[in-house]
Amino acid sequence: MEMMTKKYYDWVVGVILLYGVCSGIVGVFGVAPKKAVDVPFQKNYVPSWSADHIKYINGGKEAQLLLDKYSGTGFQSRDAYLFGHFSMRIKTVPGDSAGIVIAFYLSSQGAEHDEIDFEILGNRTGQPSILQTNVFTGGKGDREQRIFFWFDPSKLFHTYSILWNMYMIAFLVDDVPIRVFKNSKDIGVRFPFNQPMKLYSSLWNADDWATSGGKEKTDWSKAPFTASYSSFHIDGCDAATPQEIKTCATSGMKWWDQKAFQDLDGYQYRRLKWVRQKFTIYNYCTDRSRYPSVPPECVRDRDI
Ligand SMILES: *[C@@H]1O[C@H](CO)[C@@H](O)[C@H](O)[C@H]1NC(C)=O
Repeated sequence: MEMMTKKYYDWVVGVILLYGVCSGIVGVFGVAPKKAVDVPFQKNYVPSWSADHIKYINGGKEAQLLLDKYSGTGFQSRDAYLFGHFSMRIKTVPGDSAGIVIAFYLSSQGAEHDEIDFEILGNRTGQPSILQTNVFTGGKGDREQRIFFWFDPSKLFHTYSILWNMYMIAFLVDDVPIRVFKNSKDIGVRFPFNQPMKLYSSLWNADDWATSGGKEKTDWSKAPFTASYSSFHIDGCDAATPQEIKTCATSGMKWWDQKAFQDLDGYQYRRLKWVRQKFTIYNYCTDRSRYPSVPPECVRDRDI
């Protein structure tokens, strides 16, 4: 190899190595979940009601859910999971979507069920939609938070994802954490840790409560209403049998169990704070008329 070329070669190798080390460091301290792998609808999901109101585009790379005055529709994951990373790309109903709700959530079965919810509440044309989240543990919810979007969710696809491990549940929108629910078992708050959950999504009419507290009704002359979905990413611990449930609950070997994913990092907390300060409409943590004393998890979640 000629001298200059060799030097250049060494330089390139050095840069590549440095880059590798740096991204390794970012990998240790940064907490953005692994990149989602887009798959067709059919790989992970099946319709759960009104299958005729779901249209598949591009072999299921995209699915469109339709709501008309006869029916809404919904789908669910084939499998149940205990911990993992789940994400969906959603383009909400364009134009007039008052009265309409899109839900994307994880839920277990039974009376003492656990649930992790995203709900998008539509609005009249030009009026802002609302993103509501909630967490149920052992059958108890009442932990609503509501924010406005920092973009128009009906214009383009945006990513809604949940990272759930033994340490926390993080809600992210396009990689911006909008909420975290830490495991606060040590201070008496139940945390979802042993009941497998399936993913569900639905589009339905909820004009008795969704928009301006139920005052704005669905305008059926604009039907059918369409919400579009893509990505369908699931990277979870499959928990179908008691043995698998045990393994998922105790293994601690998955990528989401590692140090980098046990808490948000400083940058993410700053982004979360930005969402809190600029876009929050309601937070049960600060609702003193409903909760005269601060719910304990709110302190740990830095939510007050
Ligand atoms: C709908 O628009 C009204 C008026 O701007 C607003 O008060 C409300 O929070 C918006 N969103 C929903 C889902 O009601």
